[in-house]
Amino acid sequence: MADVQLTKLKKSFGNVDVIHGVDLTIEAGEFAVFVGPSGCGKSTLLRLVAGLEEASGGTVSIGGEDVTDVEPADRGVAMVFQSYALYPHMTVAENMGFGLKMTGSDPKFVRERVQRAAEILHLEQLLERKPKQLSGGQRQRVAIGRAIVREPKVFLFDEPLSNLDAELRVRMRLEIAKLHNDLGATMIYVTHDQVEAMTLADKIVVLRAGRIEQAGAPLDLYADPDNLFVAGFIGSPKMNFLAGTVSESANGESVIALTEFDGATAKVPVSGTLKPGTEVLLGIRPEHFTSQGTAAIETRIEVIEDLGGVSYGYSGADTDNPLTIALEEGHGIKPGQSFKARFDPARAMLFDPQSERRIR
Ligand SMILES: Nc1ncnc2c1ncn2[C@@H]1O[C@H](COP(=O)(O)OP(=O)(O)O)[C@@H](O)[C@H]1O
Ligand SMILES: [Mg+2]
Repeated sequence: MADVQLTKLKKSFGNVDVIHGVDLTIEAGEFAVFVGPSGCGKSTLLRLVAGLEEASGGTVSIGGEDVTDVEPADRGVAMVFQSYALYPHMTVAENMGFGLKMTGSDPKFVRERVQRAAEILHLEQLLERKPKQLSGGQRQRVAIGRAIVREPKVFLFDEPLSNLDAELRVRMRLEIAKLHNDLGATMIYVTHDQVEAMTLADKIVVLRAGRIEQAGAPLDLYADPDNLFVAGFIGSPKMNFLAGTVSESANGESVIALTEFDGATAKVPVSGTLKPGTEVLLGIRPEHFTSQGTAAIETRIEVIEDLGGVSYGYSGADTDNPLTIALEEGHGIKPGQSFKARFDPARAMLFDPQSERRIR
């Protein structure tokens, strides 16, 4: 178990800058998740920690030691890939023990470590099989087992569940969470799936275009995003953003006139005073619409999704920016019906449409 410290870490491929100077501390024993859209640099950042990519600038430290120029095998990390990367001609036991065997460890010692990892992952019955005789979930478990056998200081996972079907993905997600609890090891996990990030992480690191947008505990990012990108990325369904203009503002409270909803206003708490006429975006999460809300917008619900337990109504379903509203149980609303969507303005957030920063 070791902490990981990235300082002004940069990576360029040729003249393309992919990671733009990342500063980040991951505490010893922490489960950190790098999340962000495809191409934002998650894998590159993880590979920089692993030593599979050479940094173009800055440093990587593991357990207080600068490992920027240390070979991958000597960094005390083990990586689990989406593709499993198992040797087809080796048995499960041989695959799991291979890394350790290559370091010249005593065969008996390797067998014991493999046995222990197999017990943790319920692979005891499969040790003599070849990878092609395993299901996708079992193969991924072997890949994780291979990492456990090496008892690394830091586990690195790159989208390890992406090749599994939805049900198995949920089960393996729970297994990985349990593994982290049992081993107490430092883990860095890459995913583009915000639900995986929310459920697994102690700390989520939201990346966009090679920069950290925000890092923090899952529920802190949900409740208190710094900007439009994080607000829209964390939470499902996505937060709604409504165009508005400040119509009145006193210290501590601003009245926002919602441009697309004729005459609708919301009195939103803010720390400063906003100049009347300032354009803002008002963010409101689908699940924060409630019949008890004091603010209301008049809309027409065009599509309803009844998922059982929870229902969502959509208006402007054919636009770029449909409005999503969680409907209360027994809502009785029919598609095409007009609807007064109420919300508590204290739960709404304001953003600057130009800088995309949160206005607090
Ligand atoms: N070996 C490479 N050579 C050139 N460009 C690369 C290389 N690896 C990654 N990239 C580029 O770096 C960016 C980030 O890639 P990556 O880290 O794989 O993103 P993610 O894992 O978030 O989807 C992408 O634009 C990708 O095309
Ligand atoms: Mg990737």
